[in-house]
Amino acid sequence: MRSQLFATAVYALHALAAPSWTTTPFNPPSIPLAVRSPYLSAWLGQGQGTALNGAWSTFWAGQTAAWTGFVKVDGESYSFLGAPAVPESFLQATQKSFEFTSTQSIFVLSAGPVDVTVTFLSPIETDLVKLSTPLSYMDVSVASTDGASHSVEVYSDISAEWLSGSDNWNVQWATTTTDILSHAIQLTSPAVYEEIDDQTQYGTVYYSILNSGKVTYQIGQDILVRGGFLNNSALDNKVDPNFRAVSDSWPVFGLAKNLGSVSSTPASVLFSVGHIRDPVVEYILPGNVKQARSSYFWSKYSTAAELISFFLNDYSSALATANTLDAKVQSDAAKISPDYPGIVALSIRQSIGANELTISKTASGKWNTSDVMLFMKEISSDGNLNTVDVMFPASPIFLYLLPELGQYVLEPLFRYQASGLYPNKWSIHDMGAHYPKGLGHPDGLDEAMPVVQCGNMLIMSLAFARKTGDNSQLIRYHALLDQWTQYLISDSLIPANQLSTDDFAGTLANQTNLAIKGIVGIRAMAEISQILGNNATAANYSAIAGDYVTKWQVYSASTTGAHLTLAYGESATWGLSYNLFGDVLLGFNLFPASVYEEQTAWYKTVFNQYGVPLDTRHTYTKSDWSIWTSAIVTDTTVRDQFITSLKGYISNGLNTVPFSDLFDTITGQVVGFQARPVVGGHLALLVI
Ligand SMILES: *[C@@H]1O[C@H](CO)[C@@H](O)[C@H](O)[C@H]1NC(C)=O
Ligand SMILES: *[C@@H]1O[C@H](CO)[C@@H](O)[C@H](O)[C@H]1NC(C)=O
Ligand SMILES: *[C@@H]1O[C@H](CO)[C@@H](O)[C@H](O)[C@H]1NC(C)=O
Ligand SMILES: *[C@@H]1O[C@H](CO)[C@@H](O)[C@H](O)[C@H]1NC(C)=O
Ligand SMILES: *[C@@H]1O[C@H](CO)[C@@H](O)[C@H](O)[C@H]1NC(C)=O
Repeated sequence: MRSQLFATAVYALHALAAPSWTTTPFNPPSIPLAVRSPYLSAWLGQGQGTALNGAWSTFWAGQTAAWTGFVKVDGESYSFLGAPAVPESFLQATQKSFEFTSTQSIFVLSAGPVDVTVTFLSPIETDLVKLSTPLSYMDVSVASTDGASHSVEVYSDISAEWLSGSDNWNVQWATTTTDILSHAIQLTSPAVYEEIDDQTQYGTVYYSILNSGKVTYQIGQDILVRGGFLNNSALDNKVDPNFRAVSDSWPVFGLAKNLGSVSSTPASVLFSVGHIRDPVVEYILPGNVKQARSSYFWSKYSTAAELISFFLNDYSSALATANTLDAKVQSDAAKISPDYPGIVALSIRQSIGANELTISKTASGKWNTSDVMLFMKEISSDGNLNTVDVMFPASPIFLYLLPELGQYVLEPLFRYQASGLYPNKWSIHDMGAHYPKGLGHPDGLDEAMPVVQCGNMLIMSLAFARKTGDNSQLIRYHALLDQWTQYLISDSLIPANQLSTDDFAGTLANQTNLAIKGIVGIRAMAEISQILGNNATAANYSAIAGDYVTKWQVYSASTTGAHLTLAYGESATWGLSYNLFGDVLLGFNLFPASVYEEQTAWYKTVFNQYGVPLDTRHTYTKSDWSIWTSAIVTDTTVRDQFITSLKGYISNGLNTVPFSDLFDTITGQVVGFQARPVVGGHLALLVI
């Protein structure tokens, strides 16, 4: 345990370095700005505090995604967004506050006699058309603070860095001037389904505003477009005809609005930024047919312009929906611990933003909205597509927000394995090594985590079916589910030397926590069998699970400490028994209360400043498994200690990347991983 003295010293150091503006609920390592897909993912790294106009925003992986904003007030120029450098002079607006919710990041900056409120809204919707829309809002609202009225013009641009992982690729562009002013930017020679440094190399980036009021636009070299606005308070409505590379005299895509005379009643301009690709995912069908799948929203809109126009006009409704969700999350999470809502709110956009919701076309070329699949990118760890043991930790977010999404994310894996294209008797690890290519693993050489993935598929299938009330997936894929159960029956009580989901920690035989998952998986199949009317099978599997628990209790006990071991017979070892969460979630009461009580008492004694280590091999831990473990302990004080120490890590000012789930419990620093969807697991306490 950390000494009190040390903890106090660290706190004092952080207190000194805190941002000069107010932060609500706290300042995170990185702030989500526009986060709606694996490729529309713009963030503002923080460390100990970076103002909205203190640095460029970046793609989640760290590449600059330049996003600029200026406001002119009675002819005086202020920068409010990004880090532009131009010869023309301007002042820096002063950040006064920052607040985040589940869907919004809100900054207030003062620019002379006005306040500029910049709201970044990335909607989280339950309507599938809206959910699949890869667009995000930036609302810039200006109000006078000195009682007088002031003339105000607002400017913003993005660069072509949003479009490519390499600045050497050539880009081309066009501007639509219909009911919307919309810049469209594409690569001259796109590479469908390809990535560079995790950025996609095809599709179109859009930067748009409604074409109403005194609006102007311009595409051209960064210093000319920005300098032109600073000189003239408006843009020249010209489009540079010289298509070129991203970094060749940096073309930028500017939009400006004259808000006129602004009093204490706010006046605003709404921007939308988006990244649209079609198709989005390649998926393998029987017969080695590669299916091109498209975003769900195409079932309603036939052009990007229609979608963007709807999106911009829908802002007040989108904001109301977002505010309702934000309030619900806040209220549900605050019932558990005052430190919990911030963790959950910071996790939601990141987790949902790793997914794309797709449909296919019928033979006659119509959209088939009965064929819905969700694809998840295993962001930052290795870029796999629909990794089962990434979907599994993330699954509480689906159970909480929209459980159908859980069935949509399982469907591609089920369909592929039911087609016979996968050779192993256990569940596949992922649907493809490189997002967005869902080509499976016909050689069966995917990363082997047999017990983990069989257990995960069984537990998730039952949990999603229960929550949606839709058993059709269980019925359709009953044979596969039973096949995986046979694997667990033979291999989960005494797990062979293999990886657990925490593959970075290496292989290990006889992992206590892995056996728990397998046994819960068998018990889940007992209920699935019951649902399918196979009562004798249900009784058999239920008896096997019960028998395994009895045996497991003997194998897993430590002879020297009051805790479960990490591996059978290794008495000095222990770890987070997060797989008991399946038993709690599904209400099986499979493992005796004494196991839960013993683990609770043990964890109380092994907290470091930033949490309980994942296991005795290292001092690092996982944030998702920490919250899962907090959901199985029997003492709310211990539960709250997990939450509070995690909040300590995520608000300590020592990190700058989007929420990392792998960090050191002593130093509070990121060990690896960032922006991963597994943070959806932080909602675990909201679904039990
Ligand atoms: C802005 O005005 C200054 C002074 O007239 C001029 O030197 C500069 O070139 C102008 N900038 C742009 C981008 O037109
Ligand atoms: C739509 O997709 C579903 C699910 O894959 C499929 O069963 C159905 O046949 C498809 N409909 C058409 C008209 O192709
Ligand atoms: C795994 O545990 C079983 C039961 O205690 C034991 O028989 C076996 O030797 C162990 N295997 C390894 C590799 O430690
Ligand atoms: C199976 O069990 C369910 C629930 O206990 C019961 O309602 C049903 O009648 C049983 N079916 C058979 C064929 O025994
Ligand atoms: C129970 O299931 C196991 C594993 O599938 C099987 O070997 C056994 O025969 C079954 N027992 C009964 C009574 O059906």
